[in-house]
Amino acid sequence: MRRPTATAPGGRVTVFTPRIDALLREHRGTGLFRLDSDTVGVSDPELIDALLRCRPANKFERPTFKPLQGRTITRPESSAVMRAVSKDVKKALADPARLDADLTGIWPHVPHNHLRDIVFGDDPYRLKVMVDRRLELTPKLTWTVIAAGAALPSFRRSGKAPTHLGAMLSEARTYQERRHAMGLYRRAAAPVCFTVAALVTGALWLGAPFDDDVPNRHIIHETLRLLPVSWNLLRMASPEFHAVDGRIGPGDDVLMLPLLTHRDPELWEAPDEFRPERWDSLDPDNHPGYLPFGHANERCWGRHMVIPLAERLLDIARRGNLTVDPDQRSAHVPLHGLLGVTGVRVVDKR
Ligand code: HEM
Repeated sequence: MRRPTATAPGGRVTVFTPRIDALLREHRGTGLFRLDSDTVGVSDPELIDALLRCRPANKFERPTFKPLQGRTITRPESSAVMRAVSKDVKKALADPARLDADLTGIWPHVPHNHLRDIVFGDDPYRLKVMVDRRLELTPKLTWTVIAAGAALPSFRRSGKAPTHLGAMLSEARTYQERRHAMGLYRRAAAPVCFTVAALVTGALWLGAPFDDDVPNRHIIHETLRLLPVSWNLLRMASPEFHAVDGRIGPGDDVLMLPLLTHRDPELWEAPDEFRPERWDSLDPDNHPGYLPFGHANERCWGRHMVIPLAERLLDIARRGNLTVDPDQRSAHVPLHGLLGVTGVRVVDKR
């Protein structure tokens, strides 16, 4: 089933995996609906707000810092990791020499590897491999690579200063500590590459080539609306939900769907159209039903680094006259935890 991205230049068509396509066709604006015997889906923005307000996410619902191999990640530990990775991103952004990189090729692979190189390039191979796209295939493969890396006695320096995130790891002394530290590195470094590459690939797919007067920021907000990288928010069954809405049973998990609120015709004019200019007059931090970075109470801790990185990639793409290969008419959005178009052929338009 094909769903056209209405105004995509060149008549490009985004092909959603059937389950996502069915959600978009059947459940926009339907409020609350049953997905299976113990999961309800929610597409009503007010109900989502009430549900996310009624209790904080528990430790298993935290996307980045849920327990690692059974070990809880404490708040101070998560904050320290986030501070380290933010510094690494800032350092990468401060280097103007990287503005002329050649990013033609297949996206999101090309920008993923570019981000890995500019942000984590100074780290030893056994850390950099933690952000390899192939590790997405199975958690088992990830843990095999982590176990192999942790078994080596110390983190050998490559001669260059390692990243702040890498430096945290060099303090790990025992095998168990190194394994935990490498798992944390993976949790913090991989999303920088995966999410930003997915976001900017979506932007080029939906809108390139862009008019010169369209701000990158608007392109990013509009891409996150139509292709929200974080397309669902899952909360496990708990009594508070039944109190908020009696249709939610005590054993029901709740899947809240920004994917649907972001295209709700009650909330958006021309909901399926890519119109970055709509953000001239909308506030992304306070628009009903727009929650690409989660609820105001518990917004993504990474958003302040993600947006400038995405802007940087867009800058490189726009300066380099990059666009989607005019012969490519469709791209597929698979069913993954992170939503994004795949296999986009990006070329120099000159
Ligand atoms: C386009 C990029 C990203 C998007 C769209 C995004 C989206 C989100 C969303 C929707 C939430 C709330 C989840 C919920 O309430 O269940 C969240 C939380 C969070 N995000 Fe992000 N995120 C992005 C990138 C990142 C990156 C790169 C990092 C870290 C390096 C990060 C770290 C976090 C953390 C720490 C939380 C708080 C909950 C936790 O402990 O896991 N995010 N993000």
